[in-house]
Amino acid sequence: MSNKYKIAVIPGDGTGPEVIREGLKVIDAVSKKYKFNIKYDRYDYGGQRYIDTGKILSDREAEDLKKYDAIYLGGIGHPDVKPGILEKGILLKLRFDLDQYINLRPVKLYENIKTPIKNAGPEDVDFTVIRENTGGLYTGIGEFKNKGTKDEVAVQSMVYSRRQVERCVRFAFEYIKNMHKANPWKGLTAEEKEKGYIGKLTLCGKTNVLTYAYDLWERVFNKVARDYRSIITNYIHVDAICIYMVENPKIFDGIVTGNMFGDIITDLAAVIQGGMGVAPSGNLNPEGVSMFEPVHGTAPDFAGKGVINPVAAILTAQMMLNHLGEINAAADIEKSVKNTIKRMKSMQVGEMGYTTSEVGDLITEDIS
Ligand code: IPM
Ligand code: MN
Repeated sequence: MSNKYKIAVIPGDGTGPEVIREGLKVIDAVSKKYKFNIKYDRYDYGGQRYIDTGKILSDREAEDLKKYDAIYLGGIGHPDVKPGILEKGILLKLRFDLDQYINLRPVKLYENIKTPIKNAGPEDVDFTVIRENTGGLYTGIGEFKNKGTKDEVAVQSMVYSRRQVERCVRFAFEYIKNMHKANPWKGLTAEEKEKGYIGKLTLCGKTNVLTYAYDLWERVFNKVARDYRSIITNYIHVDAICIYMVENPKIFDGIVTGNMFGDIITDLAAVIQGGMGVAPSGNLNPEGVSMFEPVHGTAPDFAGKGVINPVAAILTAQMMLNHLGEINAAADIEKSVKNTIKRMKSMQVGEMGYTTSEVGDLITEDIS
């Protein structure tokens, strides 16, 4: 019997619905080819519903999403809503309530994509950022003192429990180990290979200033590393990570880091892989329901014009299918994305040489 999946689709705001439409087109094509069934339920959570009804996202609505095999999300945010309301009330609430403690962000430069990094090719940019997704500065713990007065003080706390750090770090080691079980990382030297190493994991932190939070991260990282002798480990401060990502991205295989640094370095990473138009991500709860969303957000200025690049959303669909275990279908999507990219003029908004839906069609035809 063929596999059946139930997916919650949240197209969201701005260009979200346009890119999700293309992602679903591609999923339909592979589901026919590989004979699995997907049932979608659509939810209108987002800025427009908030403006129309005043509803953000209730505990019950978040809870209800736990019955799905996965969630496919376009983007949340609205220019007419004050920053923070929808992000905290919908996106972060989902990540937190569903305990999606990993934000997995693969960074791959595909053939034929322009990168601002001089002389870099696909062999130079190919790594994965494993971002902690439920803690740190994102917990919203903090306060104002003497608000509005000239003595005002604002506090925003970076909070991490050992348990939170350990499950993230362990996931990162497992992920790198599984990825390289059959295919060792290309960046290994002959000597390292001989010693039996298969991959590398870098801890990104700021131990010279954040002497509580990243001290904990470093101790946990070093402890967990002992269980993964085949993985090379190192530590780099977040500011230096930004230098190397531009100067010598080849040195990265896996990068594990906290929530805030992960947010920032993955925008930089998206730029070196060719822009927001190609950067996918997954909010994972390895024991529960995971949610897949492109890194780019809603890009409201471009909504409804058919100019946004759907490749990030399509690669996000690919990650979702991989996660569901449809590995061949996922590999097929990646192959067809690569073929289509070769035909596109650019990955940038409005410069693709095709409309949003034409890009989706090209990928779908390549699959069929
Ligand atoms: C991201 C986004 C979100 C984040 C915002 C929209 C809350 O920037 O997914 O990277 O900071 O995590
Ligand atoms: Mn971000």
